Amino acid sequence: MHHGNTGHGKPKPRTFRSFLEEHCQQDLLRFITCGSVDDGKSTLIGRMLWESKMLFDDQAEQLELESGRYGTQGGNLDFALLVDGLSAKREPGITIDVAYRFFATAKRRFIVVDTPGHEQYTRNMATEASTADAAILLVDARKGSLLQTRRHACIVSIMGIRHIVLAINKMDLAGFREKIFTDIRASFLPFAKRLGINSLSAIPISALSGENVTKSSDCMPWYSGPTLMAWLESLEIKHSASGKPVFPVQWVNHPDAQFRGYSGTVAEGIVSKGNLIRVTASGQTAEIRDIITMEGSREHASAGDAVTLLLDREIDISRGDVLTLAREPVTMSDQFEAVLVWMHDDPGLAGRTYELKLATQWVPASITAIKYRIGIDTLSHESCRQIGLNDISVCNIATGKPLAITSYSERKVLGSFILVDRYTNATVAAGMIRHSLRRAANIHQQPLSVGRADREKLNHHKGRVIWLTGLSGSGKSTLANALDIELHRTGMRTYILDGDNIRQGLNRDLGFSEADRVENIRRVAEVARLMMDAGLIVITAFISPFIKDRQMARELVGERDFLEVYVSAPLDVCEERDPKGLYQKARRGEIPLMTGIGSPYEPPVQPDFIADTGNVPLNSIVEALMAVLTRRSEDDQEIRKTATLS
Ligand code: ADX
Repeated sequence: MHHGNTGHGKPKPRTFRSFLEEHCQQDLLRFITCGSVDDGKSTLIGRMLWESKMLFDDQAEQLELESGRYGTQGGNLDFALLVDGLSAKREPGITIDVAYRFFATAKRRFIVVDTPGHEQYTRNMATEASTADAAILLVDARKGSLLQTRRHACIVSIMGIRHIVLAINKMDLAGFREKIFTDIRASFLPFAKRLGINSLSAIPISALSGENVTKSSDCMPWYSGPTLMAWLESLEIKHSASGKPVFPVQWVNHPDAQFRGYSGTVAEGIVSKGNLIRVTASGQTAEIRDIITMEGSREHASAGDAVTLLLDREIDISRGDVLTLAREPVTMSDQFEAVLVWMHDDPGLAGRTYELKLATQWVPASITAIKYRIGIDTLSHESCRQIGLNDISVCNIATGKPLAITSYSERKVLGSFILVDRYTNATVAAGMIRHSLRRAANIHQQPLSVGRADREKLNHHKGRVIWLTGLSGSGKSTLANALDIELHRTGMRTYILDGDNIRQGLNRDLGFSEADRVENIRRVAEVARLMMDAGLIVITAFISPFIKDRQMARELVGERDFLEVYVSAPLDVCEERDPKGLYQKARRGEIPLMTGIGSPYEPPVQPDFIADTGNVPLNSIVEALMAVLTRRSEDDQEIRKTATLS
């Protein structure tokens, strides 16, 4: 085995920088490789790097060294090592992160986005696929196409990648037999057709021995198509620079009164001096007076360029605003239908709030309806109540405020988004917008003449929500009643929303699955807010076992008006009380999802009040709670006074 860089008389070491300089004029192709663990992905990428003679000197030396030390290929070079991380401490056989590899041939430059094949890493694939021009689906010739391959094919096609090749690897281990190749191709073809992949290429290869990777194989004379590298070199790609310009504003650069620039990265298309741009949210327009970069002023900037735009007049623009050409405006919407690729163990549930990021826009958002899940084997539409890890589903999404969006097919940057868990910050899903929902544009807030303040004035007290949470049998309903009596006695207008009652009417359709409990709490929170708006003090008595949903209720109602009361009694005490005999039933296995037994309860971390019903007498708890409420009201008055003074 020889290598261009390790040869004699090397003039100067090849570094990443010199690589960029040599090749920056060539056209660039970004592709991703998808495969399951052990399909030979690392070996394939390693071989491509090696054969393109694009290894940097230090990498080549290291590879020889490490192949001897850790290699799995006897005395030969182990290309997988190259990709799985040179000199990184490694666990055998496991590739960890997303990684970018650069290489070039005489014809073009390449960026390979390598994503690990474990099921749980579909998420990397989905986000990376949005920027790729082509995808290699790697299949083990001995196994054929697996569910995972289909899932990957599905994601890359949803992501709009038009060039897809099925690389049937390990042909050496399959005796280089033509029938094996044609069978796998034939079995995959109908599936690809249904996905709308019309021209599927398939290439028989051996990444290990190099057959059909860059050199045509003598072992498979029956195959007359291109090598994998030739296929990659021949693809015709359309660059995002040709799209309609989109400039999401990352930050407003306003160091002094003289200078105001809008910084960000051109996401699609080309912007030029003199262009009339429009701010999507406000509809205001202005002309681009200058485009500034680190190297000074420029006439144009295209996709990928980080620049600061100066405008010819002062208009309101803030971080997260989206600029387009004035004559190619995009619309704002707060409801749309999207394809979601779910990437997290925690299931996706309708009604739960996530943080949504689209271009530079961040907003709270929730899934309002899970329409169906796509059955990977047959691409059928399966109905489902929640979205599981790696599921591909079609959902309706509602955002907390309108966003500049387009469909994914129109503009990738404004049509793709991620959902982030608001507490762990984990990315839970990648989404592609299909279309805005028309109802979003046709429903407007109706102003009411008599407002909340008017009603509160009439009542002589503020509306509030007192949210009781705790296990079944902890004493929520008892406390709610006692508190209600006391509030009523002192002349307050009140109402109790109680789990057992609401579940016989409004929420009759809901059970006790996680999805149903989320929806239960969402509806109750909405109703409580309406009642508070009507001027009432609302006491809710629901187990409300999940932190996220109580937080949602708090945000919906508003921090100042929401009082979270943890009705705290240990499980064994509740079980002892067992007022409705439910724990007994649950222990007999008759209620599988009983909270505290078959279904979790997440106690509040920082409740506004803890009602220790096991140790403190009820009247003392009520008294203490009344005191908390009075203090809140006094604080409110204080705040109002300061506000009117200033
Ligand atoms: S929540 O979890 O969705 O907030 P909610 O408070 O509305 O529950 O309803 C709880 C009441 O339903 C309990 O007080 C109990 O009487 C009854 N119940 C029936 N099945 C269950 C169950 N599997 N888990 C908890 N409560 C149940």
